[in-house]
Amino acid sequence: MAESPRHPFLQGLSKHRGAPPTVVVIFGASGDLTARKLIPAVYNLSVDGLLPADFYLVGYGRKAIPDDEFRTLASEAIKEFSRRELNEADWARIAAHTTYVAGGYDDKAAFDRLAAHIAGIEKNIGREVQTLFYISTPPSVFGPILQNLGASGLAGKYVGKGHHAKVIIEKPFGRDLASALELNATIRGVFAEHQVYRIDHYLGKETVQDLLVQRFANAIFEPLWNRNFIESVQITVAEEVGVGTRGGYYEQSGCLRDMIQNHTMQLLALTAMEPPVAYEAEAIRDEKVKVLKAIQPLNLGAGGDVARAQYVAGMIAGKAVPGYLEEEGIAPNSATETYAAIRLSINNWRWQGVPFYLRSGKRMARRVSEIAINFRRPPGTLFAESDGFNLAANTLSFQIQPDEGLSLILNTKIPGLETRTQPVKMSFRYSTTFGSNTPEAYERLVLDAMIGDGTLFIRGDEAETSWKLYTPVLEAWAAAGREGMDTYAAGSWGPPGGDALLARKGHLWRQP
Ligand SMILES: NC(=O)c1ccc[n+]([C@@H]2O[C@H](COP(=O)([O-])OP(=O)(O)OC[C@H]3O[C@@H](n4cnc5c(N)ncnc54)[C@H](OP(=O)(O)O)[C@@H]3O)[C@@H](O)[C@H]2O)c1
Repeated sequence: MAESPRHPFLQGLSKHRGAPPTVVVIFGASGDLTARKLIPAVYNLSVDGLLPADFYLVGYGRKAIPDDEFRTLASEAIKEFSRRELNEADWARIAAHTTYVAGGYDDKAAFDRLAAHIAGIEKNIGREVQTLFYISTPPSVFGPILQNLGASGLAGKYVGKGHHAKVIIEKPFGRDLASALELNATIRGVFAEHQVYRIDHYLGKETVQDLLVQRFANAIFEPLWNRNFIESVQITVAEEVGVGTRGGYYEQSGCLRDMIQNHTMQLLALTAMEPPVAYEAEAIRDEKVKVLKAIQPLNLGAGGDVARAQYVAGMIAGKAVPGYLEEEGIAPNSATETYAAIRLSINNWRWQGVPFYLRSGKRMARRVSEIAINFRRPPGTLFAESDGFNLAANTLSFQIQPDEGLSLILNTKIPGLETRTQPVKMSFRYSTTFGSNTPEAYERLVLDAMIGDGTLFIRGDEAETSWKLYTPVLEAWAAAGREGMDTYAAGSWGPPGGDALLARKGHLWRQP
């Protein structure tokens, strides 16, 4: 069967983004993330010609899975989840280099077997290769895996030789400041920071990367990107789904840990940071940490900076859905928030006085993630709402999902003999301009880790700075239990407490 054509965006890319010979080892290879994202990412990178000829995939897990069965599971995963259909010729190339090693995560002897397996691959091909370890297990075994990578010598292999080991770590990076510090200490005891790739898949999304291009490759935005012209910034990560079958997991997490502390803070950091001196990992991450450190501690009192709520029964897409407390695996008196909204103040020269509003929730009116920059209004000497003109504040919004793109709200004259105005939306959609089927976030991120580019990954101090801000909130909410817990109907845009957070400054949430 013929091989699939390469995506036109990627023509000419392979030379400068070509990865060196690599063995990717996935811990937790029988899991959900491996099937839904990691295997399809590897497949699509291969089809696009971005994997080296000497690319090897090794699954690792406690379950004993024969090589053949693992390859079947992988091909099934591609059939079900890949953006491209499985093409046998393309798959055969990867399948020939795909194997599985069974072992415990706290079993040093099993890691020695893994090391011998990798050494066997190197012996077969007659050269040294870099190893990329992808830790895709629940966080309870991150520590043992890291320690055994150290003890077996796999973490320190070839350090200083240019094809040293690298490790990708899935979220969550801790559940509060103390556990994040502990995890980082474990990581640093085994790997140097430049070997570590903490993943937040939001950073692999097109619009998020485009934010930097929009800000720093266009002359019209950056001069306005400050407290003189911007009234407020709103960052929304809304989900339509409830907790589904993952109630047990969600009860231990909640919205603040699951979404706010990581994804929305990453979006905020890229929106608010100063221009980095270079388009390069450390320069960008230095600026992100600087702006995160300028955020003021949150006021947790009544009328303060935080709101939380749980969804109650409501309607989603015309269908009645249960409330959070009625979902499977949820304690009847659960105090886990399914919605959180935060008002942040960044105390630096650029942003002092400009509120940054973050919100996230399950079972909201629509699935949407966006960053909206609300500009101040011009003087109303010619056109003012008080004179009957229909006007809106200019808003630049970056839509991250679904239907990635950006739009700008402008005020326009309605054609006709009278001067009447109306806000209109100028939109750009990636799919319309560039076609659909663009690479998925995990493709970009796995490739970047292979070639050693940490720009789109979270550095240890970023994660710690964010936990430092939110740990007092988590502690206060845990101490309060259900007291003060707001509610919102499934299918709505959130609770009254979330609206009140903005109303205190005369603002309203956008309905994206
Ligand atoms: N799924 C997603 O969409 C998603 C999205 C973002 C981030 N993540 C993160 O990615 C990681 C993996 O997620 P996942 O959904 O793939 O997890 P998962 O399916 O629950 O677990 C992955 C694998 O880890 C092993 N495992 C499961 N529970 C374990 C336990 N208690 N102790 C030791 N090993 C255990 C199992 O393999 P064996 O039994 O064969 O060892 C399992 O197949 C997690 O850290 C998660 O937070 C997932």
